Amino acid sequence: MTDRPDGGDGGALSALLHETRRFEPPADFAARANARPGIYEEAAADPEAWWARQAEHLTWDHHWDRVLDWEEPSARWFAGGRLNAAYNCVDRHVEAGHGGRVAFHWVGEPEGDIRTITYADLQAMVCRAANALVELGVEAGDRVMIYLPMIPEAVVAMLACARLGAPHSVVFGGFSAEALAARTLDADARVAITADGGYRRGATSALKPNLDEALERCPAVRSVLAVRRTGQEVAWKEGRDVWWHDVVDRQSDRHEAASFDAEHPLYLMYTSGTTAAPKGILHTTGGYLVHTATTHRLVFDIKPDEDVYWTAADIGWVTGHSYIVYGPLANGATSVLYEGTPDAGGRDRWWRIIEEYKVSILYTAPTTIRTLMKWGEDLPAAHDLTSLRLLGSVGEPINPEAWMWYRRHVGGDRCPIVDTWWQTETGGILIAPLPGITATKPGAAMAALPGVSVDVVDGDGNPVGNGEGGYLVVDRPWPGMLRGIWGDPERYRQTYWSRFPGRYFAGDGAKKDEDGDLWLLGRVDDVMNISGHRISTTEVEHALVSHPQVAEAAVVGASDPTTGQGIVAFVTVKGDAAQSDEEGAALVVALRETVASAIGPIAKPRQILLTPELPKTRSGKIMRRLLRDVAEHRELGDVTTLVDPTVVNMIDGKMQSAETAGED
Ligand code: PRX
Repeated sequence: MTDRPDGGDGGALSALLHETRRFEPPADFAARANARPGIYEEAAADPEAWWARQAEHLTWDHHWDRVLDWEEPSARWFAGGRLNAAYNCVDRHVEAGHGGRVAFHWVGEPEGDIRTITYADLQAMVCRAANALVELGVEAGDRVMIYLPMIPEAVVAMLACARLGAPHSVVFGGFSAEALAARTLDADARVAITADGGYRRGATSALKPNLDEALERCPAVRSVLAVRRTGQEVAWKEGRDVWWHDVVDRQSDRHEAASFDAEHPLYLMYTSGTTAAPKGILHTTGGYLVHTATTHRLVFDIKPDEDVYWTAADIGWVTGHSYIVYGPLANGATSVLYEGTPDAGGRDRWWRIIEEYKVSILYTAPTTIRTLMKWGEDLPAAHDLTSLRLLGSVGEPINPEAWMWYRRHVGGDRCPIVDTWWQTETGGILIAPLPGITATKPGAAMAALPGVSVDVVDGDGNPVGNGEGGYLVVDRPWPGMLRGIWGDPERYRQTYWSRFPGRYFAGDGAKKDEDGDLWLLGRVDDVMNISGHRISTTEVEHALVSHPQVAEAAVVGASDPTTGQGIVAFVTVKGDAAQSDEEGAALVVALRETVASAIGPIAKPRQILLTPELPKTRSGKIMRRLLRDVAEHRELGDVTTLVDPTVVNMIDGKMQSAETAGED
């Protein structure tokens, strides 16, 4: 881990602390807000009792005996309680008379390809899929891989698994066959759900072919359930592969949901850590559902019979799990589910969707906001966006310019913005303003939510004062917290609970401003954040050195005006490989492809610099800090610990000439 409590931003983000703009909650919003004055005090007085009151919003088959059993680092929330997550997300709303309410306005990428799915429809779909999975031999506890585009079947598949107590492991459709195989093997899944392909800006992408390739390495997977989405030709393995429409559609639309222990595994979500192997973050049922439903109700102020809510994220990431599927459905909300990219069918696609469906709450990532910003404010201005009343941001620190643009050009200067900080591991939001209560500052996530306690500490674990920065920690267990890393309890303890005993180490830098409000400053470890996607430097380095011509590789995340960070790789080659400029250029192209096939196109380096040497300390450690300075065009930091300080100057010179050449 590098020691960068300032988030490694070189001080640029620190300038944000001089932000003086403040936006009070609009009075009309505050008058009707779900979060009431006094909520922080009420929760702080007895956090466990407060969470228990939130848990009463769900339907439990058996009430819990204890709110929390905590023996660090092991938590059991609502111990002894029993419930079914899918029943809570679907059936109970139908039973309460809301079967006719729309759960999803699904918008496919091809224009006009739409489906409206009510809660009653969703119930029938989930029951059929659950019955089909039973027919395929899925039992409680079995892991099911899901590798699907953003189609309703993705939600249905997740809920069918939840209904059966079979933890799902959704892998983002942009991951490669190799990445998919690693996750399937680690989860030891026996059944996989996929589609022939998906749409991406008018073209079709291959999903089943990737899965087929992955499964060559995963013989334990005995059944593949495939949705026909694009109609493209796909290979078929008799005895293993079945079509969704053949197997699911003929099932009964009734299925009795069994109840599961509150701590029964709900899903695994693989995410990058500081080593090459992604970790399977384990979430369980009761606490996770309480956390996602509560935060969705308070942070997004959801009014299920009025709002149209849209999390514009992919179901393959935790944001989709918590705020497209579990949180909104537990609250009986109506959501937009959109399959495509913001520019599929034109750069005004989002604004058309908001106008057509009268979206009232929009939740997206800063990288997307910056892209929309580049496309210009004329596009949102040409559409009626007055249905919007609340805007959310997630995934990386939001720069004040993007925040202000979002507020003005999307929110019409009237919508509160909630900048929400959380992680795959936290399961749900931990830090965010509460709309209707918190006065916001452009770029600040402000404060821990009610029932949550965080702090910013120095390297010794002492809380920093106002105006100072340090490491973000969480002081107390929270219901949505991860329960472990699949198959690796020691890595779980080591990664999150050993740096500051008694506190959860988030791996993020943060600052408290003069008022004590929180600003998140990015990762302090070797995890990069590319367009809100987590990728570890080690994972990319591993992929690069797998190429036969590569001797060594060092990867850093360099700040990028659109994607937040971009991947920059420094590579030394073996022997006399890539001596000429042409060979060097060809190798760079090949290396980008190597990374794409090892991880996925999202991990392709923005820049690869071939260099004869890397800067190392006397103990042989690569000084990534200096490489980051090079990649971000900063003055080089302290070079005295290097064996040969001229190496980094040479790399700096090469970088500058590479960039000048690139500009020609
Ligand atoms: O560095 C933080 C950043 O994203 C990381 C978590 O990534 P992931 O597990 O993929 O989950 C993303 C969606 C929840 C965090 O460690 N991050 C997330 N939200 C914010 C953020 N950084 C600053 N501000 C945020 N609002």
